Amino acid sequence: MPTFSTSTTTSSASNSTCSDTLQEQVQHLHSILNYHSHRYYVLDDPEIPDSEYDKLFCQLEVIEAEHPELLSLDSPTQRVGGKVLDSFQQITHQMPMLSLSNAFSSDEIKDFAQRIDERLEHEHFDIVAEPKLDGLAISLRYEYGLLIQAATRGDGTTGEDVINNVRTIQSIPLRLTGATYPRILEVRGEIFMPKKGFERLNQSQIAKGEKTFANPRNAAAGSLRQLDSKTAASRPLDMFCYGIGVVEDPHDDDPMQTTHHLILNQLNTWGLPICSEVKKLNQWQDCIEYYDSILLRRPDLPYEIDGVVYKVDSLAQQQKAGFISRAPRWAIAHKFPAEEAMTRLLNIDVQVGRTGALTPVGRLEPVFVGGVTVTNATLHNQSEIDRKGVRIGDMVIVRRAGDVIPEIVKPVLSARPEQTDAYTMPDHCPICHSLAERVNDEAKSRCTGGLFCPAQRKEAIKHFASRKAMDIDGLGDKLVEQMVDAEMIHDISDLFSLSIDSISAMERMGQKSADNLIQSIETCKSTTLPRFIYSLGIREVGEATALALANHYRYFPEIKKAKSEELQEVPDVGPVVAHNIESFFDQEHNNEVINQLLQAGIHWPEIIKKDELELPLLDKIIVLTGSLSVMNRNDAKARLIELGAKVSGSVSKKTQLVIAGDKAGSKLKKAEELGIEIMDEAEMLALFNHYES
Ligand code: IVH
Repeated sequence: MPTFSTSTTTSSASNSTCSDTLQEQVQHLHSILNYHSHRYYVLDDPEIPDSEYDKLFCQLEVIEAEHPELLSLDSPTQRVGGKVLDSFQQITHQMPMLSLSNAFSSDEIKDFAQRIDERLEHEHFDIVAEPKLDGLAISLRYEYGLLIQAATRGDGTTGEDVINNVRTIQSIPLRLTGATYPRILEVRGEIFMPKKGFERLNQSQIAKGEKTFANPRNAAAGSLRQLDSKTAASRPLDMFCYGIGVVEDPHDDDPMQTTHHLILNQLNTWGLPICSEVKKLNQWQDCIEYYDSILLRRPDLPYEIDGVVYKVDSLAQQQKAGFISRAPRWAIAHKFPAEEAMTRLLNIDVQVGRTGALTPVGRLEPVFVGGVTVTNATLHNQSEIDRKGVRIGDMVIVRRAGDVIPEIVKPVLSARPEQTDAYTMPDHCPICHSLAERVNDEAKSRCTGGLFCPAQRKEAIKHFASRKAMDIDGLGDKLVEQMVDAEMIHDISDLFSLSIDSISAMERMGQKSADNLIQSIETCKSTTLPRFIYSLGIREVGEATALALANHYRYFPEIKKAKSEELQEVPDVGPVVAHNIESFFDQEHNNEVINQLLQAGIHWPEIIKKDELELPLLDKIIVLTGSLSVMNRNDAKARLIELGAKVSGSVSKKTQLVIAGDKAGSKLKKAEELGIEIMDEAEMLALFNHYES
């Protein structure tokens, strides 16, 4: 690790106390800055605060300004951009940039493996599987270790020189590390925009009133093709290398390793970024398992992928397998089902939520996207509709990524039918016809009908019965809707006066289901204070806030009478939530319902303060990952919290214990790397048993 002294100031060598020559000082600053930017951008593990890095950076800038002869192409100061071009130069690839054949099913992968098996005359072959990154292909050319050219793929033969923009990508080394790299090395890989960076970029585009990008790939492409490299420098681009192009070395005919996975390792030792999901497989049958596991973890990966790629590992075998036109025979892309598709927006319906929020929902001509048939997609609110400019009748791009609710991305303007109108949300609730209004600059308008509005009442009852709330087994959404429509129940307290006869008289409800439902309603009466608070459906009071309120006050009447100012002393309760809580309990109707609930027999055990009890996991930071097979995840989380733990969603150095269920992925891997204690589900259950409540 390069060493540096933070006591050095930003002054140049003229008043430096160092005896080094200026040249040596510059070299020293290069290596320190490269070391820390590698830790920050590639390893995600910064060692020094940003302010220290900035000091060193500034020091180098000062020297370079005073001594331009010491400024070199690989100086970290060259990453900030500045050059503005009129156009990009065309570059002919010395070795063409190929594409991949695509497969969409396991059968096609089997055929691929069989073709290779025949070509290799039944010789055993290893396979390397890697994510198919959803970005843009790039070819980086290093000469004597120095990055001198970066070309886009273009048509595979000719691309564009985007070196000024590529220099601003912090994870790409401007100079290779070590000394064993060949004289000329072309590295091929994918430039992409990580998901988080993409979200941040779009937020800042909205704040600046500029156009947003439809997806991270478009954002990466737009950023890489910026003529002003300062703009590119402000964009969060990243890269993973997945292969090589031209390699030349006068001293050694073939300085590269002989298998694909070893080449990737070799590139990595020279400082080039490689995707950590690359995996060597012994037999092609393992490809499907790899595909399934990556598909499952796709939503958690920090970058977008659109499939996986399988490659024959041995270069000699690759050569034997050969090429078909512009794609290698030794590699194939196993694509995920498309996440975007085009369909027609037939109508916009307005749904009324539990708190009266009106949400426009696009009704679509059914379309297969993200592996399912989609007929509805959210449009969020009026501002989103305006921003996207969608109109009823438009052809639209629909996106469904993982389990995320399908979304309308944008209209296809070139296909807009004649005589469409801009859409405006209704100013009255479509269900109870009360006035709908937008308060406090909220994006959504709300029905002012309150509990008079059947839609709000239905949602409030569904919420009350839901798993994380009172957990009334057998009371599904459809049944709630039927009961409200039939006026069997008006609010949550009516649930406790339902009779077996009235339930079994309903459509599709037999005696047995009615018995079970009455039993579940009875069982739910024994609950916990946090669950009860959460189930009341106070605006913006989720599980965590309900728990914080219960722990802070311990007694329900105390919460009921608390005023907004005092409520803000509760952890995580800000002025808006405090106001929502106070005004909820100010409403007479709500208090009547609460009294009826308590009279019906809802009760909970007294809360014992942390310091009155020996909690085995007191303040221990725990992460739950993977799927649990015996215990439900929410229950496990609640039990851990009861035992004093702080349950967090992501693994960091602060994490003290990771509980890993089945198919735990990147979080488990990170925990192993950080040497954090790991427990499986059985051990967790044993712990719970030991401290049985
Ligand atoms: S290998 C000779 N590996 O997919 C094979 N390509 O259709 C060259 N891509 O243009 C490509 N992730 O931009 C390879 N792990 C990966 C990839 C990958 C994404 C892109 C690449 C290429 C396209 C091929």
